[in-house]
Formats: sequence, structure tokens, C-alpha cells
Amino acid sequence: MKYMIVYSSITGNTQIIAKAIKDVLNENNCIYYGKPDGLLTQDVKIVFVGFWVLRGSCPEEIKLYLRTLENKKIFLFGTAGFGGSETYYEGIMAEVKQYISESNIIVDSFMCQGKMTKNVLERYQKLLKEKPEDDNILNMINNYKDALLHPDADDVEAIKSLVKRTFNNNL
Ligand SMILES: Cc1cc2nc3c(=O)[nH]c(=O)nc-3n(C[C@H](O)[C@H](O)[C@H](O)COP(=O)(O)O)c2cc1C
Repeated sequence: MKYMIVYSSITGNTQIIAKAIKDVLNENNCIYYGKPDGLLTQDVKIVFVGFWVLRGSCPEEIKLYLRTLENKKIFLFGTAGFGGSETYYEGIMAEVKQYISESNIIVDSFMCQGKMTKNVLERYQKLLKEKPEDDNILNMINNYKDALLHPDADDVEAIKSLVKRTFNNNL
């Protein structure tokens, strides 16, 4: 069955996951791999849509793209700076799913942590200077450090096996 992998990635984290998906599927069935570009998708039934988390949701270009999809099977994936909380990830997915119309079926979703840019750490460090030993800020700095390792080999393995399982090696 034909499929597309459409994703948005600024610093490359989400692209690592997109590439892992591509690597486990039959390349001959891949109609498109890249940024959302308004490509017509009538004869493609399966669309993988990837995003980086932007203020608790997905970027505008992904919202717009999701709104164009009708009668597709959609597999959502994303990377977020915050890690370690399935509830947080579920909240983001719930938010993003609002942009998907009911004619589509969401077959599955995947989210993992993704490293953040250095200015985020600098912002935390500045805050910590103002409020030394503030637990919230210390937690954010620890989260920043954890995120630096992701997506890692386990994340890549996890998305690969989820995709294989979801599509029974049929794509
Ligand atoms: C402007 C901006 C806003 C962000 N907002 C969030 C957020 O609300 N929640 C979160 O977990 N991560 C947030 N992040 C972190 C990114 O989602 C994360 O680093 C992601 O892996 C980047 O993906 P990319 O490398 O594919 O661009 C934000 C990053 C930027 C630059």
C-alpha cells in the first residue's frame, strides 16, 4: 500500500524519527517523504505525520496540513523537549488530533523526547541566578540535560517496532 511521510523538523530530532519510519518500510511504496507542501494525496491511503512540539501543540504548517487530509489512515509522531511523562505526551496528541477530521482514522501515535537548543539552557541558568535552588528550575535543567541524549537508539528502535507492529510488515 502506498504511503507518505510528511513532517516538520527544525533542528533534526523529528527527522530522525521520520527516517527511522522510512527505513522499516518498503521504499517502493513511498510516494513522498518531506515537508508538508500541499501535494495531492488522493491515491495514498496512509500518511505518517510528524511534528516538533511548539508551545504545547504542533507548528502551524502541520495544523494546516492535517486539515487537508480526508479518508486517510494517519500515524502521528512527534518529538518534545519535555520527557518522562506519558500524560504530557497524551495531552499533546489530544491537542494535535483536533486538527484531524472525522473522515480519517488515527491508527497510532508515537512521541519521544528531543534535544533543545542551547538558549533554552541559558534561559534556565539566568532564572536560577535569580532564584537559586528553585526546584522547578532545577528540574527543568535536569530535563534539558536528559533531552540532549534524544532521540537515542532506543527511541529509534521503539518507533521501528511500533510501525512494524501497527502495519504487520504490510507496507
Ligand atoms: C519555540 C519553541 C517552543 C517549544 N515548545 C515546546 C513545548 O511546548 N513543549 C515541549 O515539550 N517542547 C517544546 N519545544 C522543544 C522542541 O519541541 C523539541 O526540542 C523538538 O524535539 C524539536 O524538534 P526538531 O529537532 O525536529 O525541530 C519547543 C521548542 C521551540 C524552539
